[in-house]
Amino acid sequence: MSEASPENEIEPPFVKICEVGPRDGLQNESRQIATHDKIAYIDLLSQSGLAMIETTSFVHPKAIPALADAHDVMSGITQKPGVTYLSLVPNAKGFARAQAAGVRAIAVFTGASESFVQHNIGMSIDESFAEFAPLIAQARAEGMFVRGYLSTAFGCPYEGDVPVERVLRLSERLCDFGIDELSIGDTIGVAHPDAVSDLTLRLQCHVPLERLAMHFHDTQHRALDNVAAAYAKGIRIFDSSSGGIGGCPYAPGASGNVATERVLAYFATRNIATNVNSALIEQATAFIQERLAGK
Ligand code: COA
Ligand code: ZN
Repeated sequence: MSEASPENEIEPPFVKICEVGPRDGLQNESRQIATHDKIAYIDLLSQSGLAMIETTSFVHPKAIPALADAHDVMSGITQKPGVTYLSLVPNAKGFARAQAAGVRAIAVFTGASESFVQHNIGMSIDESFAEFAPLIAQARAEGMFVRGYLSTAFGCPYEGDVPVERVLRLSERLCDFGIDELSIGDTIGVAHPDAVSDLTLRLQCHVPLERLAMHFHDTQHRALDNVAAAYAKGIRIFDSSSGGIGGCPYAPGASGNVATERVLAYFATRNIATNVNSALIEQATAFIQERLAGK
């Protein structure tokens, strides 16, 4: 809704958190986490009030060995009503695998720099759009939730700076497919709050702001400032990982996502509702960190 109404003005502010720990968090871990432990981790996260959890990826098992058990994870978790369980899908084969596992929410992903997309999925940006256009159409026809990711929106590990105009154009192209949500990724954690403010202001002329999420990594310790900058400009969906675990094997040097606990604390001190119980997130984090430590 673009027009402000008195009802809107008195509504308390609300932020949606997309917990990406089980996917973005675990995909880069050298220690293989047992499938039953991933399931237990996701089930703990489900109890916290989160509305969205990214559980796994139906990518090539050789590309991301840590998530090769995607089918078993999706079959094993207890899906709580009202929670959207997202799975990454890179191509038709991945979509078919996701369908076979009963997935109801998918995320397609591309990037704003050619070299990253080539390294990550072995396609050009245009080829990636051609690959997932029919998947999005099919998913929507089947009533699935569809999220899009635009990675490397603030910088690329191979090319450095990424032109803002390209980010705007690709975001618009993705939203034109009718996706439910678009997550703008600072994949390597180089964004600066000024760049976040500027991009958000410009994006709202191209895509509906309420469908945008921001995805920050904390490589340069600015992720929380970037969340604040994006919130100030109207973003109400943020990706984070419990305990700040994570990184991308195709983004050398990138560290984990901004920690869910820090994002929750930030909004709690400002009386902005998230409906997420941070003590339960901390329990999930403690559980997975013990497993990552080999206990
Ligand atoms: N799941 C399982 N197997 C798959 C697959 C998928 N999603 N996609 C392709 N394959 C198989 C094909 O069936 C084929 O198998 P075959 O040799 O036995 O016939 C083989 O992989 C090669 O297929 P191809 O289409 O040429 O894929 P590719 O090798 O070019 O890989 C991707 C393309 C996209 C599947 C791969 O690069 C990938 O999974 N990348 C994901 C990276 C990622 O997750 N990064 C982090 C998230 S941002
Ligand atoms: Zn990420």
